[in-house]
Amino acid sequence: MNILITGASRGLGEAFAKHLGHAGDTLWLVSRNRPASIDLTDGIERHWLEADLTAIGIHQQIAAQIQNLDIIIHNAATWESSAFSHTYDFLSISEAETRAIIELNLTAPILLTQALLPVLKNSSNPKIIFIGSINGLENSGMPEVAYNASKFGLRGIAHALRETLRQDRIGVSIINPGSIGWESNAHDFLIPPMDIVNITRTVLESSRYTVIKEIDMPAMMDMQV
Ligand SMILES: NC(=O)c1ccc[n+]([C@@H]2O[C@H](COP(=O)([O-])OP(=O)(O)OC[C@H]3O[C@@H](n4cnc5c(N)ncnc54)[C@H](OP(=O)(O)O)[C@@H]3O)[C@@H](O)[C@H]2O)c1
Repeated sequence: MNILITGASRGLGEAFAKHLGHAGDTLWLVSRNRPASIDLTDGIERHWLEADLTAIGIHQQIAAQIQNLDIIIHNAATWESSAFSHTYDFLSISEAETRAIIELNLTAPILLTQALLPVLKNSSNPKIIFIGSINGLENSGMPEVAYNASKFGLRGIAHALRETLRQDRIGVSIINPGSIGWESNAHDFLIPPMDIVNITRTVLESSRYTVIKEIDMPAMMDMQV
């Protein structure tokens, strides 16, 4: 399989880059910083596409480098610098910060999908997977305005694209995780990244006859959603 992963240099994207593929697969890793997984020697071919996904024209430049593609994983995202903390204050969020969140979380996946579709359509089992968030679900109780708007919007992109691409039999899915636990903050109320990697693998390995529309996976103790 040929898989493109955005935001592959750290966090969940790094977990995808390290653990999603099988020997023989080719991964295209998009990020501004070099992903450490490039150095792994496990039979998976990894290519780093150094790119700022908010740059004008970058999406076509990425597509021009890829001849075969089966899966797009739209994972890169950003949020308010004060998000998820008691210091978050809507009135103090700058215009630049709001624009940057919408540009990376919403505009970039639309433009990258448009650019990659011609090559994706040649796959025998093409899929597009968006990484959303429980912040994009009703009653999440989360106050971050621009980030929540972007994650609700991402669901809109996924649902509309699914209908647009149904005649091409391209599966479009969105996975909405709750808070993820890393080694630095692993805790039993946070989701292990491998749970999301494993769900994503199930989606991308499903047949062309199935559409997995949306998967919500809050942490066990996320009570609101
Ligand atoms: N962390 C959580 O608890 C959580 C919970 C629910 C959902 N999610 C979702 O899961 C996904 C991954 O989150 P994460 O926590 O792993 O994020 P993260 O650690 O902040 O990593 C973000 C990735 O996006 C890349 N990126 C950021 N700005 C970029 C740009 N302008 N151009 C290209 N790449 C850019 C970063 O690479 P460079 O800096 O090298 O460019 C990095 O690889 C996101 O969609 C997030 O909304 C996360």
